[in-house]
Order: sequence, then C-alpha cells, then structure tokens
Amino acid sequence: ARVEKAGYKHFMAKEIAEQPVVLGDALRHYLPNGQLNLPEGLDFADLDRLTLVACGTAFYACSVAKYWFEQLAGLPCEIDVASEFRYREPPLPKRSFAIFVSQSGETADTLAALRYCHEKVAKTVAVVNVPTSSIARECDIALPILAGVEVGVASTKAFTCQLLVLAAMALKAGVDRGHIAPADLDEHLTTLRALPGLMNTTLGCSEQIEKLAERLAEAQDILFLGRGPMFPLALEGALKLKEISYIHAEGYASGELKHGPIALIDRSVPVIVLAPHDRLFDKTVSNMQEVMARHGEVLLISDGKGLAAASEGTWATLKMPAVAEPWAPILYAVPAQLLAYYTAVAKGTDVDQPRNLAKSVTVE
Ligand code: G6P
Repeated sequence: ARVEKAGYKHFMAKEIAEQPVVLGDALRHYLPNGQLNLPEGLDFADLDRLTLVACGTAFYACSVAKYWFEQLAGLPCEIDVASEFRYREPPLPKRSFAIFVSQSGETADTLAALRYCHEKVAKTVAVVNVPTSSIARECDIALPILAGVEVGVASTKAFTCQLLVLAAMALKAGVDRGHIAPADLDEHLTTLRALPGLMNTTLGCSEQIEKLAERLAEAQDILFLGRGPMFPLALEGALKLKEISYIHAEGYASGELKHGPIALIDRSVPVIVLAPHDRLFDKTVSNMQEVMARHGEVLLISDGKGLAAASEGTWATLKMPAVAEPWAPILYAVPAQLLAYYTAVAKGTDVDQPRNLAKSVTVE
C-alpha cells in the first residue's frame, strides 16, 4: 500500500506524530502481559562482550544502548560506525554477539561489517525495520522494530523503536546475567509500557517548539549537551538539525564542554541542554551555568523537578514528563526531532528530501 502524508505537511511530521502508536506496537510485541518476549537463542548469560555496529541515527541508538547494556547487565559493550569497523578488522571474542542496527537493512557499510563478523562471534543479531532486508536475512537472529514504513530521510520513529527493542534486549541481558532483581525488572517494564502515553503528552509541546524554532532558525551554530545516555541523544539532536535545516550543530558530553567547545559560546550560539532530573542532573546544571556565564542562550529541556531547580537565567525551557532514569532518551528524542523539524520549516528547506542525503545508502 502507498504511504500517504495523511493531512500532515511532511512525512517527517507524520512519522514524529506516529511514535506513540508504533512504540505501542513494539511494546505489545516485545513486552506482552508485562513480560519480556524475545526470540529464542538470545541468551546473554555467558557472553564476554557485545559489539553494536550501525550508521547514522541507528549508530546513535547503539550509543544509547551501550549505557543500558553496561549498567543494567554489566556486559561490556563496544560500539562503532560500520565504515570504521569493517576496515579496522577488530578482534572479536567468540563468546560475544554482534548486533547490527539498521532501519533499511540495506546499508552497504553495515552489511559489510556483518559479513566480517560471520564465524567470528557466537551470534549475529539484526535490529531492522525491514524484515525482508539483506541484513535481516544474513543475521542468525532478526528482531523487527515494527515502526512501519519510514519515508522522511531524517529518521525519527525508527530511532525510538530501535531504542525500545534495544531496551528490551538490555533488560533480557540483565535478567540472564543475574544483574536485575525481579522487582526492578517489573519497575522497568512498567516504565517502558508507559512511554506511549508520555510521548503523547510530549507531542503537546509542538506549538511551543514551533515558536522557539523561529530563534533557532537564525543561528549559525547550535550546541546540544547531555550526560550519560542523554549524551548520544545530544548527538542525535545535532544530527537531525544538520540534516534538515543545514545549520551547523554539534552534540557534546556536558562534562567535555570545558575542553574546547566552550570557546564558541557567545550570545549568538543557542545551547540546548537535555537534562532529566537524574543522578547527574546537578553536574549538567553546573556545565549549563558555565555557558550562561559566557552569555550563551540556554534552552533547558527537563522535567518539573529539574525546571524548578535550574530554570533561572535560561533563555527558554521545555517541560517534559518525569521518566525513570535510564529510559529518558526514548522520550527526549521527541523534542529533539521537533526542534529540528520546526527549525527546518522556519528556514523553508526541503524537510523530507534534504539536499545531498539519501534514505538508504546502499553503495559505499
Ligand atoms: C542514511 C539515512 C539516515 C540513516 C542512515 C543509516 O544516512 O539518511 O537517516 O540513519 O542512512 O541507515 P539505516 O537504514 O542503516 O538505518
């Protein structure tokens, strides 16, 4: 069936708005009746390591998942972009899984990286949106992300669905390795199952973001900051913005700011801080204050507690629902996507077909 815009101005807008629904589909598949449901053969108990390989947005999903696998399952986790991995020819422990994340399942570098891993690892695992794709077929195990057809070149709903599948895998790894107590597992599952509802709430901030985007569209450079699993989300936020608005943007680990990028800060550089009120919140706030002391304009994206504690002196704030610590990137992906979207709309760029980019890169 042909996919239509269904009244939206762009496919990207439609795909952002669809996230509560497709995430719900993925949840029903992977977390039915409050239990984990993953394919047989995915046993993480005896592994020495995981290797996650992808390109673009899918690579940032892997980068978030690294925090989850290491923290929730105590499983060392290596991540790499496929174009580096394939030629680096890294040694791989036999007692390891190699996981390939790809929306299309056809990205040439990711496919080549997968072929390099055959025979070297215990299992190859695909996390893909297209179940009939080359990567899905060539892996030992394929997990569909169930996002539905994604048309916009800038990946949105595929990213959050990739995160959901990786989250389910990280929890399974935590259980297999005796790292997660049953009560904690229940709590994590409850949080994940609440995400579609929270995402709906979050989509309600579209109008506010549309207004903020008028200012962002005038900027030449924009920085995104985050810590912990929010750091890769800062990278993804910057990538989205670059891809469709052509504004130079960089994502940085908040604590790394002082080692270079702080030199860029003045009134003309908006700084977007992705900071749920978590364990590391106070540290991120002190990095944010360093920005404001140099007249940087801060947009703070946080929950009620975070905003109550740290809004003073910011240019603007965006209020997010509170969400338990490791899972915030799934929810905060939404404002990151909407900021890129409305900034591109304000600039009048071709949102669904940005210049020089392809939806799927099947040549090297
Ligand atoms: C292209 C697309 C990106 C995507 C990347 C990886 O660059 O423009 O949106 O993240 O390829 O694609 P894949 O299909 O492997 O996820």
